[in-house]
Amino acid sequence: MAKPYSEPPAVIVSDSSSQIQSWYQIDSELASVILDCRQGVPSLLYYGARLAAIGEHGLASFDRHEAPASPEKEPTIALLPDVTSGFLGNLGLAADTAEGWQIHPRLTSAELTESGLCLVAHCSTTGLRVTYELALDQTTGVLKLQCAVANTSEARLSLHQCAITQALPQHVERVLGFEGRWGLEFRQHNHSISTGTYLRENRNGRSSHHCPPALMVTTDHCTESTGEIIAFHLGWSGNHQMRVEQLANGRRYAQLGERFEPLELILEPGQSYQSPPVYSVHSSQGLNACRQRWHAFVRNAFDAVAAMATRPRPVQINTWEARYFDIDESNVIALIEKAGGLGIERFVLDDGWFASRNDDRSSLGDWWVDKDKFPNGLSPIIDTCHRHNMTFGLWVEPEMVSPDSELYRAHPNWVLQHKNQEPILARHQQVLDLSQAEVFDYLLNAVTKLLTENDIAYLKWDMNRDLHQAGTHAGAHAHHRQTRAVYRLMAQVKSAFPNVEIESCASGGGRVDSGVLNYVSRFWPSDSNDALDRISIQYGVSSLIPAETMGCHIGPEECHLTGRRHSIAFRGGVAFWGHLGIEMDISSLSEIDQTSLASLIELHKYHRGLLHSGDSLRIDRCDSDSAWGVVTPNGLEGLFALAKLKSDTTVFPAPYRFLGLRADSDYRLSLIWQSDRSRHIKAHQEMIEAATFRGDFLMEAGLTLPIMKPESILIYHLAAVN
Ligand code: DGJ
Repeated sequence: MAKPYSEPPAVIVSDSSSQIQSWYQIDSELASVILDCRQGVPSLLYYGARLAAIGEHGLASFDRHEAPASPEKEPTIALLPDVTSGFLGNLGLAADTAEGWQIHPRLTSAELTESGLCLVAHCSTTGLRVTYELALDQTTGVLKLQCAVANTSEARLSLHQCAITQALPQHVERVLGFEGRWGLEFRQHNHSISTGTYLRENRNGRSSHHCPPALMVTTDHCTESTGEIIAFHLGWSGNHQMRVEQLANGRRYAQLGERFEPLELILEPGQSYQSPPVYSVHSSQGLNACRQRWHAFVRNAFDAVAAMATRPRPVQINTWEARYFDIDESNVIALIEKAGGLGIERFVLDDGWFASRNDDRSSLGDWWVDKDKFPNGLSPIIDTCHRHNMTFGLWVEPEMVSPDSELYRAHPNWVLQHKNQEPILARHQQVLDLSQAEVFDYLLNAVTKLLTENDIAYLKWDMNRDLHQAGTHAGAHAHHRQTRAVYRLMAQVKSAFPNVEIESCASGGGRVDSGVLNYVSRFWPSDSNDALDRISIQYGVSSLIPAETMGCHIGPEECHLTGRRHSIAFRGGVAFWGHLGIEMDISSLSEIDQTSLASLIELHKYHRGLLHSGDSLRIDRCDSDSAWGVVTPNGLEGLFALAKLKSDTTVFPAPYRFLGLRADSDYRLSLIWQSDRSRHIKAHQEMIEAATFRGDFLMEAGLTLPIMKPESILIYHLAAVN
């Protein structure tokens, strides 16, 4: 439970006479937050490593008054800076009301809660009421901030901006952000913070491939195991804005929120708007600690993920890259039977099972089984799965409709559109307007019927296009209401079928974020199963989600997206690290590849307890390598990978310096997977198996590595013997 500062600081007596402290210090095991309320609005003065009580003098030391030609009192960087606050950065709160745009909410009440604080402010001129909720997680130190804006006036108002704004320490020097495209998501970029703005805006109507709603600010030279970081995650799957700005006076702030179109967010009297939460994660021990704290938080705070903690994630096979639209009862049953022999535990029937869906040009919206392909419905498929000890999963794309569908022909007005404009099709499809009650009900009934009539353990919930003309039939902007309606739909499905797992997929990684995480327990990070590209994709996405929620599939030998060929051992060694799946035609595999695949599946099952609950680690190495691992929190057991991305420029690779072990324990090392069987690897294997190595040796001097071929991988298992 959060503790307020033990000696209560001075209080502000607000207009309504309730007492609000002039500042608050809230502490958790790892982090502290200091919130300044002296200017009548809350400002986050500090979020970082845990501090002892700072006292009034500590608070006063944050203030600067001596700048020439400047206000006597520096305007605060409020959580929602409004136009009247004098803040010269980007406004966090802006609205047009019947009384004009000069809104000035000032605090009226404060209440300490189980995990933090709830503050309320009111603007007496415009009738705007703002609620700020702050929660600090006791164990991980993750800070959750969320605001609500209510219209208590008699007139409608238009909300332009509600973006949570956090002052940053002046020693953070860099922004680490994400970019990408379909098939190559979660690339990282790294820019220095200097006067001006780092601004990312997403207008695609889903969290997007190019701008997922997360970023980090770091000290200079931050590495996986050193340096200070604050990571931000915006819990939203629609349009968003993220900025990091350094003001002329050197102050820095980060601001994250939803992005509205003009007149998109109208609040009628009595209505309110709830902002998406902004989660902040702090680490003074590099990126690894930051990721581990976020993963621990996700595992505990998001119900759909927490509910899976004790259920092993089943190894699955998916029909997409195995057969695309060429599916029917007999070839699907043959695939299931083959999969059963390899130890696969879930079968997922991807796109193509419904209505007349023989390619991607038709039938979205017609959510009934294609009787030509499956004359007996899905039962024979599901029964075959059960006979082979597999559960069954199904692909759906509820938000979409094909113009060539019965649904569209019956309801052409159910789509998002701009008046008198030709619809822009993407992947030959349009987007349904989920804010219309009949549309919502139709989809809820369709999904409910599928889940009621069939024993379905898992839904792959896809969403294959951006929102280019996001207008409702009534002529309003749709982005905000569409995202909220998707959440409502997922929430109702989850509440009626709590055991059905949902995967978030959007042409690969177009909807990976901490908003949809409230409903889903797996993500599809990319349509690319190219093992080499997957290494960087999995690295990037692991800043947003833990391993067990990251779908990792072994695709065909020749990757369908890149044309690159990799051995099954390399593909398997890369996919091993997430929630494992197979996505290729296993009926055409050679005997050797079948054996290799079956042993990888067995190995994954054996280690998945650790893979899916341990502390994830990345190891800094030269750019021809990628190295990562996972350890138990007590450091007694670990799995580590070394992937050779390209040819080494030197003869001998640098030793592998492990992380997260106990310095004074001895470890037995085994090379449990290798994609390269050269004599170097054989000699290396003999060397490590002949001895035990102390943790301090492995972490400081490091393990001598064999010479490896490019595009190959080694996986070590380490277990302490004392
Ligand atoms: C896009 C997904 O990312 C793929 O995995 C597959 O499900 C296709 N859609 C099906 O249309």
